[in-house]
Amino acid sequence: MKQFLNINDVTDLNALLDEALKVKANPYGYSSLGQNKAACLIFLNPSLRTRLSSQRAAQNLGLHAVVLDIDDQGWKIEFEDGTIMDGDSSEHIKEAAAVIGSYFEIVAIRAFARLQNHDEDYSEQIMNAFVKYCPAKIINMESATAHPLQAFADLITIFENKKVIRPKVVLSWAPHPKALPQAVANSFVRWMQKSDAELVVTHPEGYELSPEVINGLSVEYEQEKAFENADFIYAKNWSSYSDYGKVISEDASWMVTRQKMERTSGGRFLHCLPVRRNVIVEDSVLDSDQSLVIEQAQNRVFAMQTVLKLMLENEI
Ligand code: CP
Repeated sequence: MKQFLNINDVTDLNALLDEALKVKANPYGYSSLGQNKAACLIFLNPSLRTRLSSQRAAQNLGLHAVVLDIDDQGWKIEFEDGTIMDGDSSEHIKEAAAVIGSYFEIVAIRAFARLQNHDEDYSEQIMNAFVKYCPAKIINMESATAHPLQAFADLITIFENKKVIRPKVVLSWAPHPKALPQAVANSFVRWMQKSDAELVVTHPEGYELSPEVINGLSVEYEQEKAFENADFIYAKNWSSYSDYGKVISEDASWMVTRQKMERTSGGRFLHCLPVRRNVIVEDSVLDSDQSLVIEQAQNRVFAMQTVLKLMLENEI
């Protein structure tokens, strides 16, 4: 595995899941794999889970991990080509990425969507610049349009908790006061479409995801209907794709409640976290046995450890 940017870098999803289960069953079984190697975890945005789970995953493999909050600790990076750098930016991505890649075997990057310009975000300017100019193996720790490590952890969690071969999995939009990227929802849809699950997406009109992501899947606009007999409810907010980056509704009636969960088939609740209590989901759901959010967050370690392991094993 040379890069882990999105689902397109996964050739066999079932094999990847099997590998993760193997890693989780024996997390210290590969503790010399990363010996004398190092990874740089670059953050342009805040993180709790990704930051800590990635460091723990590296540690389990004997891989040294260095965290760089590049905006605070590095020089301000210029990503535009051919620009006259007489403004705020002190260093171009061409040099920065090349230098970082000369120090580390693996470089992982978090760079959220800015939600100002659709074309800029969906061109994955920052992630692709690292791919182009950094000689190390590249991992996406949430980019403008994708969060594959989260989707991988979601897949592991669903597999471990499903009671039927092909569970009904519902991705439900939920309200949020701020404009959030579509990355988590995009990756969840893409990964579920390739896994053995009946995926249902539900959201208010106007929150349609990219047609490329939805890929012909029909949307259920009635949330309570979507919840009927569901095995898993995944709540997530995202801002509008068509009215790009805008909050067009904060409709509180889309919050996930215990009453709505009663429509499911003993459904389990998922959210990538951080979650706003009593905005996205009621306390009574999050604090119940139906909630899998902590298990889901714990699986972030094994998702990252599996990706790191595969990268280290493929090294020449
Ligand atoms: N789910 C997730 O990526 O969490 P963090 O933003 O805290 O890393």
